[in-house]
Amino acid sequence: MHRLLLLLLFPLTAQASETMPSRGAPAAIALGRQVFQTNCARCHGAEATQPSAEAPDLRRLNVFCLQLKDGALQARCLQDVDAYFMMAVKAGKVRAGIVYMPPWRDVLTEREIRAVRSFVDSRPPATPRLKTSVDLDHAAH
Ligand code: HEC
Repeated sequence: MHRLLLLLLFPLTAQASETMPSRGAPAAIALGRQVFQTNCARCHGAEATQPSAEAPDLRRLNVFCLQLKDGALQARCLQDVDAYFMMAVKAGKVRAGIVYMPPWRDVLTEREIRAVRSFVDSRPPATPRLKTSVDLDHAAH
């Protein structure tokens, strides 16, 4: 009975943990580019590759995960970032009554926001920040 339940539940949980089924899909990237250029580029930089834009460089969200060598761990890490990305975009960034970024939940669909994440992921990675003493220590070994 329990085993049967597990078998029945597994496909569901597997699906639920796949936050970004569109990652890497050319159609999603193309849609994401269009949505990004229309709605996000004016603050986050054209083509999501301009580190000097007024809002954060969205490629940086992946920097920590991409350093992980264990593939399974890296996949879990990227899923966490996917979830954060979806939440941050839907809710926007509003603190103490100041709107740093407006919420997008009533403007864009779930599919469009996911497509933007796929587009940002498809961009060439951000150049590393200035090295910290920890990075230099790692590089020395
Ligand atoms: C009006 C300018 C503006 C627009 C337009 C805008 N953003 Fe933002 N966004 C910001 C700012 C500013 C922040 C940083 C806010 C903070 O935390 O202080 C931010 C933060 C974020 C974050 C969190 C980044 C982090 O490092 O935690 C994500 C994800 C994000 N934006 C995605 C988007 C997407 C996707 C779009 C288009 C649908 C978009 N933004 C449109 C200004 C904007």
